[in-house]
Amino acid sequence: MIICKTDSEVELMRLSALLVSKTLTEVSKLIKPGITTISLDKMIGEFIKDHKAIPSFLNYSGYPFNSCISVNDVVVHGFPNKIELKENDIVSVDVGVILNGWHGDHAYTFAIGEPEKEIIQLIKVTKESLYKGIEQATVGKRVGDISFAIQEITEKKYGYGVVRELVGHGLGRNLHEDPQVPNYGKKGSGPLLKNGMVLAIEPMINLGTKNVFTEKDGWTVKTQDKKVSVHFEHDVCVRKNKADILSDYSSIEAAEKLNPYLFSNY
Ligand code: MF3
Ligand code: CO
Repeated sequence: MIICKTDSEVELMRLSALLVSKTLTEVSKLIKPGITTISLDKMIGEFIKDHKAIPSFLNYSGYPFNSCISVNDVVVHGFPNKIELKENDIVSVDVGVILNGWHGDHAYTFAIGEPEKEIIQLIKVTKESLYKGIEQATVGKRVGDISFAIQEITEKKYGYGVVRELVGHGLGRNLHEDPQVPNYGKKGSGPLLKNGMVLAIEPMINLGTKNVFTEKDGWTVKTQDKKVSVHFEHDVCVRKNKADILSDYSSIEAAEKLNPYLFSNY
């Protein structure tokens, strides 16, 4: 069942989404070679609690950390750990909060140092594909229109691997609500989009093969060919002529530009 949100509920969800954006902005300021992902995770947990919210991933189906930090060939659900980040690492940071009972869930991928040209392009195109998907999130379209738009640019135009096993989702009082939002699909297929639906749209795009596997820890998803994977996620409300993006990359991108250890010239 897909739950449409009222205008006032959407405004509460915007606050949740923006708290995630703020948290990712802090990450964008701090991330650099030598820092461990577990220290970023601790900061993320404290920042969320300082803002009267709950880190929603912690204990979700037994997930043991505040955030997912996925480096290089880790696609998503990477465990924060004691390994120091280094030059050329590609780091996806995925954060979820519950604020006033409403979920925010979004993600950003950072590049430390100067990535290779083909990786710069992968990051740029994955972010672009997210916005192409968002363009379709209007009343009267279908979920498949979002899926198709993402697949069209990433797989058809650039030949990247679109992960099949993991999908975007509805968002609200629960982290995962209907509908599922795949990053591949047919135009005009799937559930009809209605005013007030809130979706977490999250392309997970691989430089090489689309094939992935899950580590023995039950969470960490990696590419089968060990090539890099990129993940961006926004929380979006379906509206009549133009989707309303509840989360916000602008402060994350501003901090990324000011951070001398991050690549930002996409
Ligand atoms: N953005 C991810 C998702 O929608 C994060 C979930 S991690 C989990 O599935 F630990 F909470 F499962
Ligand atoms: Co999500």
